[in-house]
Amino acid sequence: MKKKERLIVILIINYYTLTIMIKKRTVLKLILGGILIFIMTFAFLLVVPQMEKLTGLETINPEGKSGKVLVVYHPGVSSFQKDVTMSFVRGLVEIDYVVDITTPSSKTTTEIANYDLVVLGAPTYGFAPAKPIENYIKRVADFKEMRIVSILTGAGSTDESVEKMKELILMTNGRLIKSLPLWSSAPNEEIYGISDAKQIAYKAGLELEIN
Ligand SMILES: Cc1cc2nc3c(=O)[nH]c(=O)nc-3n(C[C@H](O)[C@H](O)[C@H](O)COP(=O)(O)O)c2cc1C
Repeated sequence: MKKKERLIVILIINYYTLTIMIKKRTVLKLILGGILIFIMTFAFLLVVPQMEKLTGLETINPEGKSGKVLVVYHPGVSSFQKDVTMSFVRGLVEIDYVVDITTPSSKTTTEIANYDLVVLGAPTYGFAPAKPIENYIKRVADFKEMRIVSILTGAGSTDESVEKMKELILMTNGRLIKSLPLWSSAPNEEIYGISDAKQIAYKAGLELEIN
C-alpha cells in the first residue's frame, strides 16, 4: 500500500471509531435521562400530594341556627376532595349549620370544644388517609368524644384507609358518626346506589343527624 492510501485508511478507521463513541455516549445520556425522569416522577407522586396546603379559616353561613361545624380537609392534587367536601358542606348549610372550613397544617386550630361536629376529609394515598390529616388528628390528640364525620376519597380502593381513619379517631377519643368513602374512578353505586360523588356527599350533609 502506498503512503497516501495508508493515510486514507487510517482516517476512515478514526472516523468510524469516533462515531461509535459518540453514539455510545448518546445512548448512555438517553438512559441516564430516562432514569432521572423516572425518579423525579416517582418522587413527585410520593411527596407533592402529601404536602400540607396552608389556608385560613373560612366561615360559611355565620348566622346559622342549628349549630357549628368545623371542616378540616386536605385538598390533594385534583379538585375531587374539595368538590365532595364542599358538596357535603352545602348540605349542612341547607339545614342551617354554621360551617368553618380549613385545611390541616401545623397552623390549623386544635380548639374544637366550641363545635358540635368535626368533619375530617382527605384523599387516600397508598391505602392510608393523606399524611396532613393524620398529623392533624395526632395534634388534636384528644377529641373528647367529639362527633366526627370522615370523608375519604380514593380512586376505588379505600377499605384500608377507612379502617386506619377509624383506628386514629378511636385512639384520640373521637366518636365517628359517619364514614363516607367516595371514589373518583370506580362506580360509587356499589355502596350508595347513585354514581355522582358530589350528589352523594350533598345528600349525606343534608340528611346528617347530629345528636
Ligand atoms: C401517590 C398516590 C397514591 C394513591 N393511592 C391510592 C389508594 O391507595 N387507593 C385509592 O383508592 N386511591 C389512591 N390514589 C388516588 C387518590 O386517592 C384519588 O385520586 C383521590 O380521590 C383524589 O386525590 P388527588 O386529587 O390527590 O388525586 C392515589 C393517588 C396518588 C397520587
